[in-house]
Amino acid sequence: MATAKQTFIVIDGVDGSGKSTLIKNLAALIEKRTGRAVHLTREPGGSPFAEEVRKLILPMEPGARIPSPEEQFGLVWAARWSHLTDTVLPALRRGDVVITDRYDSSTYAYQICGDERESLLSPFLAMQSVYEQLVKPTCYVLVDVSPETARARLHGRSEKLNHFDLKGPEFHARVREGMKEFSEMVDSAFVISGEPSPEDLAENAYKHVLKYL
Ligand code: TYD
Repeated sequence: MATAKQTFIVIDGVDGSGKSTLIKNLAALIEKRTGRAVHLTREPGGSPFAEEVRKLILPMEPGARIPSPEEQFGLVWAARWSHLTDTVLPALRRGDVVITDRYDSSTYAYQICGDERESLLSPFLAMQSVYEQLVKPTCYVLVDVSPETARARLHGRSEKLNHFDLKGPEFHARVREGMKEFSEMVDSAFVISGEPSPEDLAENAYKHVLKYL
């Protein structure tokens, strides 16, 4: 069913919050209950150019150079513009609901809070306002879990861990706090607990996004 409504949903959270499973389940609920097509995408990445930039932000080869927080900051915003113009906007124009796995909430939580770069706050707000002129997320669902749950989920994964996953508990605690702070700064952002079962978590998220569908 085509619709003129523009719905751009961000799902974000700490590493190991269970958001990947949530995204799949939420997309299935939206498609089943509204009949709208859902386009799933991710950051860093989500377009051919942005996926190339992702390799610089998250190098997976042993001994690879890890970019500084300032370099990461520049790279994520460069990738984001291409993600919006090449992927998100075309999908929204088709009438699809777009769900992105991470967005600028991660830039705030990881580069500014996790890496303690307060100097990046003012450039962050400036970039956010420029990018919002292109497209602004309809809402953000930020999934929060305890450090114990996050650690257990992270270490139960089959994929290789990236350099953020390997950082210490203090870093992850600051990222978690950063996600909460972000939800206080942005009207359309809210935190939900990632502790319930996958089915309950998807239903909770659906309740929050329903009014935007
Ligand atoms: P990814 O392998 O996609 O893992 P996850 O399943 O946890 O999303 O890793 C993406 C990583 O990139 C994640 O650790 C957070 C980080 N990131 C930033 O630091 N800043 C950003 O702006 C974005 C979008 C992601």
